[in-house]
Amino acid sequence: MIKYMKKISGNPYLQKDNDKLIIDQVPFEYFSENFKTPIMIFLENKIKSNIQSFVKIFKSYFNNLQCFYSFKANFLPEICKIIQNQGIGAEIVGLPELKVALKVGFSPEKIIVGGPYLSTKLLKTSIKNKVKEIIVYSLNDLKKIDSIAKQYNHIQDICIRVNSQKYESRLGVDLNKKNLEFLEREKNKLENLNIKTILSHFSTQMNNIKLFKRNINTIVENLEKLNKIGISIKNLNFGGGFPEATIMTDKQLDFVAQEIKNLLDDLTISYESIYFEPGRYLVGDAGIFIAKIVQIKEKRWLFLNVGNHICPKFSRASLRFYNASRISESHKYKTSFSGIIPTDQDILAKDYFFPEINSRGDKIIITNVGAYCLTFSNRFPYTLPSIFLVNGKESKQIFNPNLEKDFSLS
Ligand SMILES: Cc1ncc(COP(=O)(O)O)c(C=O)c1O
Repeated sequence: MIKYMKKISGNPYLQKDNDKLIIDQVPFEYFSENFKTPIMIFLENKIKSNIQSFVKIFKSYFNNLQCFYSFKANFLPEICKIIQNQGIGAEIVGLPELKVALKVGFSPEKIIVGGPYLSTKLLKTSIKNKVKEIIVYSLNDLKKIDSIAKQYNHIQDICIRVNSQKYESRLGVDLNKKNLEFLEREKNKLENLNIKTILSHFSTQMNNIKLFKRNINTIVENLEKLNKIGISIKNLNFGGGFPEATIMTDKQLDFVAQEIKNLLDDLTISYESIYFEPGRYLVGDAGIFIAKIVQIKEKRWLFLNVGNHICPKFSRASLRFYNASRISESHKYKTSFSGIIPTDQDILAKDYFFPEINSRGDKIIITNVGAYCLTFSNRFPYTLPSIFLVNGKESKQIFNPNLEKDFSLS
């Protein structure tokens, strides 16, 4: 008889078999009985399947697709290594990330580096290693990059991140009259730079095609401005912004890819390659927390030993909650979740539908925490989670708070 298992949180690597929870092929009890909460688990096979879906869908519309994983979503070397093995590139914002990318084996021609702060050391390491592109968020950085490229006798390909014109966004270059005049005047003096690519990243968790279209229009408008001053752009980089893969289904992603393709065709834009820099889509739903109910208060407030210090609002993650101790019960009762930071602001979710009965000590699963939770985590002095990587029946501990002080990069 074929066993019927039900997905949890829409994730095929989180299943329930009657009242048993299975994480890829590892029983939930393996973690709950052997390790103290908080526990964080990453699903290697989910990361791989997310990358494969993304590349397959976009390649079906763009044969000149280049995909760069946005390291800031999750910089753990073990996670980055899985991604490297899938053959895509890396988008890097700083030196610690660049070191990890090189260490886990990303080839420099698949690494693009850029951000609002380009330190001399970051630029030198990037140029010395001959990374594919350096992305500037401010035209002021061009002269500095040019002079370092000269020192290394190297012609550096450059991408200009333009301001996405999203309300109040200050990131990226505004190609206004002054900046265009500057570029026109300086472009021939910047002998060791080759401005090749334009980037606009609009937002995160974009669940509406209109947002993707606005981003494309920004790219197209700026492309024309650059063309007019004699800078011919070869590659279009649309950044990231896709929701978690269990939130944005293959069908929706396919629709987005098709609409982008149609819009570019309608606008008769010619380009060599099209780039995307997904972060959340590739790793967001590959991470879960196991937390414990430490306190229950009036009006169905459950206090968990995972709070905003490790599962921060800034991550903008699509959090979903399950009581692992009552996995088969229906979610009908409005319940709120609080963390353990001693402030009323430590709220994980309000009025979330949940099982009726909950007890202190029950284990709670929080899904979709693979992207930005660790990046935006802070140093509130509570024990850090044990971190595991699960692949099929195998589970490997990749961070042990009893032995290591920190998981951040240096
Ligand atoms: C330039 C750029 N590219 C890619 C990303 C990744 O975004 P997401 O994780 O939403 O795909 C970001 C996120 O802030 C970004 O700023």
